[in-house]
Amino acid sequence: MASDDVRRRITELREQLHYHNYRYFVLDDPEIADREYDELMRELVDLEDEHPEEVTPESPTQRVGHRPVSGFAEVVHREPLLSLANAFDEEELQAFAERTVRRTGDDVDFVCELKFDGLAVSLIYEDGRFVQGATRGDGQRGEDITQNLKTIGAIPLVLSEPVSVDVRGEVFMRRADFAALNERRRESGEPLFANPRNAAAGSLRQLDPQVTADRPLDIYVYSLGYAENAGFATHGERLEFLKSLGFKVNPHVKYCPDLASVLEYILYWDDHRGELPYDIDGVVVKVNAVSQQDRLGATAKSPRWAVAYKFAAEQGVTRVQDIIVQVGRTGVLTPLALLEPLQIAGSTVARATLHNADIVQNKDIRIGDYVVVQKAGDVIPEVVRPLQERRTGDEKVFEMPLQCPSCGSTVQRASDEAATRCVNTECPAQRFENLVHFASRNAMDIDGLGPAIIQQLLDADLVRNPADLYWLTAEQLLDLERIGPKSAANLVAAIQDSCGRSLDRVLFALGIRHVGSEVARDLAAHFGSVAAIMNADQEELAAVPSIGEKIAQTVCEFFQKEQNRNLVARLETAGVAMVGAEAQRTKDALEGLTFVVTGRLEGFSRQEVEERLRGWGAKVTGSVSRRTDYLLAGDDAGTKLAKAQELGVTVLTEDQLVEVLQERGVSFDKP
Ligand code: IVH
Repeated sequence: MASDDVRRRITELREQLHYHNYRYFVLDDPEIADREYDELMRELVDLEDEHPEEVTPESPTQRVGHRPVSGFAEVVHREPLLSLANAFDEEELQAFAERTVRRTGDDVDFVCELKFDGLAVSLIYEDGRFVQGATRGDGQRGEDITQNLKTIGAIPLVLSEPVSVDVRGEVFMRRADFAALNERRRESGEPLFANPRNAAAGSLRQLDPQVTADRPLDIYVYSLGYAENAGFATHGERLEFLKSLGFKVNPHVKYCPDLASVLEYILYWDDHRGELPYDIDGVVVKVNAVSQQDRLGATAKSPRWAVAYKFAAEQGVTRVQDIIVQVGRTGVLTPLALLEPLQIAGSTVARATLHNADIVQNKDIRIGDYVVVQKAGDVIPEVVRPLQERRTGDEKVFEMPLQCPSCGSTVQRASDEAATRCVNTECPAQRFENLVHFASRNAMDIDGLGPAIIQQLLDADLVRNPADLYWLTAEQLLDLERIGPKSAANLVAAIQDSCGRSLDRVLFALGIRHVGSEVARDLAAHFGSVAAIMNADQEELAAVPSIGEKIAQTVCEFFQKEQNRNLVARLETAGVAMVGAEAQRTKDALEGLTFVVTGRLEGFSRQEVEERLRGWGAKVTGSVSRRTDYLLAGDDAGTKLAKAQELGVTVLTEDQLVEVLQERGVSFDKP
C-alpha cells in the first residue's frame, strides 16, 4: 500500500474501533460480534507494526501493553477534586436546601445522582485526546495512573469533539465481577479483597497495567473540572455534554424540581440499591443551575451547591446461636457463626464466617451474644461486633477445638499463620471437600457428580480418593439412593469422559494448596506434564513467572508425599491425561515485545538470537523506534544505541537478556 493509503486505512480502522468500543462499553449495545472487532484490531495492529511511525498514544491498540512502572508520578490537579459535605438524615438535607435558597436568594431546583462507592478520578483531554488520568489523592495532588485508566474500555481515548476538558468520575467494580475475582483469588490462595471498592482501588493502583487490564473495571462520569467554552446553563446540560463526548453517564440521574422529589428519589434508592449491579453508599444532590452553583461557590473542602446524602450502613442486630467449625479441602478449620435469621439489604442472613480463631478472640464474639451483622460490600455477611451491654453472663467463649471436628485427630497451628489445620490426610471432611473440588466445573467438570452423591459414595465406602472414581461401575452406583440405571450409566460415562481434560485442569483438580486455575495453567504451560512438575525442584518451580517461593514450596511438598504420588500414578493408570498440549506459554512467552539486536555479540550469533526471539513470539525489527521494547547491544553498537538512549528504550547486555528471558519463563543459556 502507498503510504497515503496506509494512513487512510489506519485512520479508518481507528474510527471504527473507537466507535465499536463505545457501542460495547459505554452503550452496552454492540453492533458487531467480538470476532469482527478482533479482526479490525488485528489489521490495525499489523499496519502499526509495519509503520511504527504512525502509532499514536490514543490509538485503540494502546490500551494495554505498557510496561510496569516502579511507582506513580505525582500530578498536581489544575482544579482541585473537592469532596462533598454529608447529610445523614432528612433534617440535614432540609438545612442544605434552605441554605442554598438563602444564599442565592432564589428558588432552587436539583439534580440527584447515585453516589457510587468507588474511586474518584480526573481524566484530562487535550484537543479531544486522552492525555492524563489521575487519582484524587488529597484533592490537590494525586497519582498519575494514565496507563491503568487506558485499560478501562468505558474511558474514551478520543472524544467526539476536539475539546480540552478535565472530566471527573468514579471508577468501580460490579459486585458480580468482584465476587468472581475474589473466587479466583481464593482458588489460588491470594488474599481476598474486602469489598468491590477495595478491589477497584487495588486494581487501579497496580504498577503493572497488564494486571489492571485483567480486572473488570468500569466508570461513570459526573462532573467537569475545567472545560473550555463550556456554556451550559444547568448540571443536566453538563451531563448531556459529557454523554455527547462519548462518556458513560449513569442512567439513574434525575431532575428534581423541589426537596420533596429529592426525598422521594433518596427513599426509592435506599430501598432498591440492592438491585443495582454495583454498590452505592448514598445519593448526591446537586443544585441544577450553573449560575446558582457559581454564586454558592465552595469551601476549601467541598462545593456549597452539592451534598452527599449517606445511606445508613446495611446492618442489623441478631443473636449468635452457635459457633460451629467447618473443615475445608486443605484441612483449614473455619469458625462459622450460626445466627438467628435476619433481613439485611433484602436478603436473609443466617450464617456468617468468622474467618479464624484470632478474629473471634479479638472481636470477642461469644456464643449467645447479640451482634451487629453487616453485609460487607453487600455480599458477604460479616459479624461487626458484639453488643456487650446486652450480655447476661450466660454467653460462652468460643474456643478453637484441639481435635478436628470431622476426624478427631489433633489439629495444628503454625506460629506464623492465622489458620488452624487438620493435617490428617484421611480426614473424612477433607476427603469430601477434595472430591467435590475434583469434580467441580473448573476442575474435572464431571457432570452429575455433586456433593450429595459424593457423600453417599464416601458413606458406602465406594471411593476414598479421586482416583477411585475411575473404577466405579454402574452396578455399584445402583445401590445408592435415587440413582436409576440410566443415571448410573451416565455418571460412569461422565467420569470416563473427564479423562481427557486438559493438563491444567488436572493439576487444579489435585487440590494443591495455593494452586488455583491460573497457577495451574502457568504450571501446565511451562512444564508440559505432571511428571515434569513432580520432578522439578523448588528453584525450577519458582522460575515460572507467576509462581513465588511459597507456591513453589507447597507444590514441592505436595509431590513429596507418597500418598499424592500414588494418587497421580493411579489417575494415570485410569487413563487421565497427565501430559499437556505443547507448552503454549513458551511459544508466546515474548509476544507483544519488540526487540532490536545490534553490535558484536559474544555468546551467540546475531542471527541465532533473532531466530530464537522470534520463536518465542517476539518481533525483531531492524531499527529502533518508540515501539521498541528492548535493544540488545553488543560491542561497538553505534547509532542504534544512541537512538535507544535518546528514546529511553531499555538497553540490554547479553547477560541481562538471559535474565529478561528467564523472567518470562524461557531460557537461553550462553554456551
Ligand atoms: S460530585 C464537586 N457525584 O463522592 C463535586 N461525586 O464524598 C464532586 N462520588 O470524591 C463530586 N458518586 O468520589 C459526585 N454522582 C457523584 C458521585 C460522587 C460518587 C464520590 C466522589 C467524591 C466523593 C465525595
